[in-house]
Amino acid sequence: MKKVAILISGGGSNMVKLVQAMTGDHPARAVIVGSNDPAAGGLAKAAEMGVATFAVDHRAYKGDRAAFEAALLQPLLAAEPDILCLAGFMRILTPDFVQRFQGRMLNIHPSLLPKYPGLHTHQRAIEAGDTEAGATVHLVTPELDAGPMLGQARVPVLPGDDADTLAARVLVQEHLLYPQVLRRFASGDQTPLILNAA
Ligand code: GRF
Repeated sequence: MKKVAILISGGGSNMVKLVQAMTGDHPARAVIVGSNDPAAGGLAKAAEMGVATFAVDHRAYKGDRAAFEAALLQPLLAAEPDILCLAGFMRILTPDFVQRFQGRMLNIHPSLLPKYPGLHTHQRAIEAGDTEAGATVHLVTPELDAGPMLGQARVPVLPGDDADTLAARVLVQEHLLYPQVLRRFASGDQTPLILNAA
């Protein structure tokens, strides 16, 4: 049984779907949920589902990224995770941190990578006149939003879409994509999964 740790920064809707999927004959179980924000709404949701939680407030380490990550690593490593999932985790991690988990660290990014790494992905897709958008689950490497793709979900960009309406359409697919990709990954299968809701 693989042990999965999940890092969040906010509501944790992707985290909830991942935890809920890890039951029955699923080869993994969630063992801990952590956040850089003690007020992250997802922490209460994780606790309600019986998953251990922790928070390390990144603001207490202003400007000292290495110290923040050292504090984050302590409870994380104590849980001895086999797999680390970033799910709506909004802090950039240093290569030192990434290298500790490289090859077993996943992230979900709300664009069809390699298009639109970074922030404001939906607004950028709309402004570019794209007819499709979506989300990507990838292995995390030191370069931001650039690791090998493990799954992608495509949705149409509709006339009249704004960033919020497009984000909502993509989020529905994220909630389908990430649990399926994690299940495959936990069973040793890295074949990319493509979901088309376009
Ligand atoms: C989602 O758009 C996800 O792609 C991005 O963070 C947003 C919120 O995720 N990484 P969640 O609801 O906190 O899981």
